[in-house]
Amino acid sequence: MGVIKPHHQGKNFFEVCHPLVAGKLSLLRQTQTDHKLFRELVHEITLLLGYEATQNLSTQENEIQTPMETYQAPFLAGPSPVILPILRAGIGMVDALLSLMPSAKVGHIGLFRDGKTLKPHHYYFKVPQDSEQRHFYVCDPMLATGGSAINAIEQLKAHKVKSITFICILAAPEGLAALYQAHPEITLFAASFDRCLDDQGYIRPGLGDAGDRMFGTL
Ligand code: PRP
Ligand code: URA
Repeated sequence: MGVIKPHHQGKNFFEVCHPLVAGKLSLLRQTQTDHKLFRELVHEITLLLGYEATQNLSTQENEIQTPMETYQAPFLAGPSPVILPILRAGIGMVDALLSLMPSAKVGHIGLFRDGKTLKPHHYYFKVPQDSEQRHFYVCDPMLATGGSAINAIEQLKAHKVKSITFICILAAPEGLAALYQAHPEITLFAASFDRCLDDQGYIRPGLGDAGDRMFGTL
């Protein structure tokens, strides 16, 4: 049976421990996995993470007619949430989240890490005008130093967004600590809390550069 394990640093950081997630993640990590399979696995893992990460969506009842009787049936309550991929690699998680929440809006934030300083550089930001009342699902496969996630969440807060869930595939302990310190209220779901960062800022055991593996730009 699958388990959602809270992280010791914060009760709102969850590792989705499920054999389907674990098996797909092992394939994703493998060097010989090509970009087509890599994208398919990211999609499938995101469906499983998204199922857990959306458990707090609220519902409202509306009367429906079944073939047997009228019934007060639960439907997802508005306003529809916003999916916010961190470019580039976050793009690979959008379709899975949209298939779970077809009425969601999609924002975009463009960030890339400087190879030397590991600090994020910002190049694009677009969210719906009425973002204040909406829940945001920020997605990026990798939380390494945490710099990109922290920057994305700061920009959302500057736009008065109050309610954010971060969904990633791998999270390093260094990134979790930094994110928790900067934004302790954020809820995070990950497929694995990995061991550490190396001295180049890559996650170990990791999977390499997520964007390059996803888009074949290695
Ligand atoms: C990767 C990844 C995250 C970031 C994580 O993107 O997709 O956005 O690094 O690292 P951090 O936690 O140390 O900030 P990258 O900056 O390589 O950009 P790309 O997706 O455009 O290749
Ligand atoms: N970004 C990646 O794509 N991979 C890592 O291991 C760290 C940051």
